[in-house]
Amino acid sequence: MNIDKKTYRLKPQVKIENLLPEIDQKKDCQRIIDGLLKNKKSIPSVYFYDETGSQLFEEITRLPEYYLNRTEKLLLAEVSTQIADGIKDIDIVEIGSGDCSKISILFDSIPAINRKTIRYLPIDISQSAIQKSANNLIDCFPEIEVHGIAANFLDQIRLPYQRKKRLFCFFGSTIGNLSRKKSLNFLINLKENMEPGDRLLLGLDLIKNPKIIEAAYNDSQKVTEKFNQNILNVVNQKIKSDFYPKDFNHLAYYNQDYCRIEMHLKAKKDLMVSSPYLENNIWIKKNETIHTENSHKFSPGQINYLTKKSGFEIKRKFFDPKQWYSIVELTKR
Ligand code: AVI
Repeated sequence: MNIDKKTYRLKPQVKIENLLPEIDQKKDCQRIIDGLLKNKKSIPSVYFYDETGSQLFEEITRLPEYYLNRTEKLLLAEVSTQIADGIKDIDIVEIGSGDCSKISILFDSIPAINRKTIRYLPIDISQSAIQKSANNLIDCFPEIEVHGIAANFLDQIRLPYQRKKRLFCFFGSTIGNLSRKKSLNFLINLKENMEPGDRLLLGLDLIKNPKIIEAAYNDSQKVTEKFNQNILNVVNQKIKSDFYPKDFNHLAYYNQDYCRIEMHLKAKKDLMVSSPYLENNIWIKKNETIHTENSHKFSPGQINYLTKKSGFEIKRKFFDPKQWYSIVELTKR
């Protein structure tokens, strides 16, 4: 099996399409360098997800403090029969599919006879995650046809020809990792790629006591710290720089003004970083920070605003009993 090929089959019912080689490496490097040369240094959070980063993120989702995943899955389990009602002859497209554990909850609620008529299209930036999860998924649901797409969901959503109606799923509050403006543009763009009657299930983390949110990003096992530091390994690999991740402390706090968690890497000492892509070395002062991620939280009002402004119609809204998390079902008219 040549996994560098654009399209290949893992098993007869599992096809994988790899769009990652199409990412412009030069542009990628330039984005990283631009962020590092800014007055307030930053690295785009998409660079968290190499193979190690994707594995660390899977670990994060199992941490006791990281309530997002647990709460969303419980909520999904509670409402999946309502969502799954009548689902057949459909393409289910999951953006940021990860380990496919959320979609499995939905598949569990669909009768096997209807599952036979479903094509599942997981999209993820990690090719290894897609392969692993697709294999696991068809061990449980062998009747489902899987067409995985390894791609950056922000600018590479290119779906195969549409055979049927579509249900899009964007779980995990990943939309919160985009700026408010980008999340709106993302939804507008997605809607343009949908046909009238297609649906979108969107998972969003809600605003709550900041202590609970901060704990989720400062876990006691320090997995989030490793996840944050690992972005520097990805940067080193991309721009051939010589960051030493352990030279940085993990910093994650809730920014009330923007209703978001901010993650940063804070230099433990004065540092110099070099890269053949840089004209001059970069100097980083002790305590200087590199901004690596925003994770926006939403109020019910903000959810209404975002979804309506993007032109979707809200069909149903689901909340967990503590009102920590919401899944909204949207349709394109
Ligand atoms: C993928 N995304 C929704 C996660 C979040 O909560 O923003 C990424 C993450 N960063 C730190 N922990 C988890």
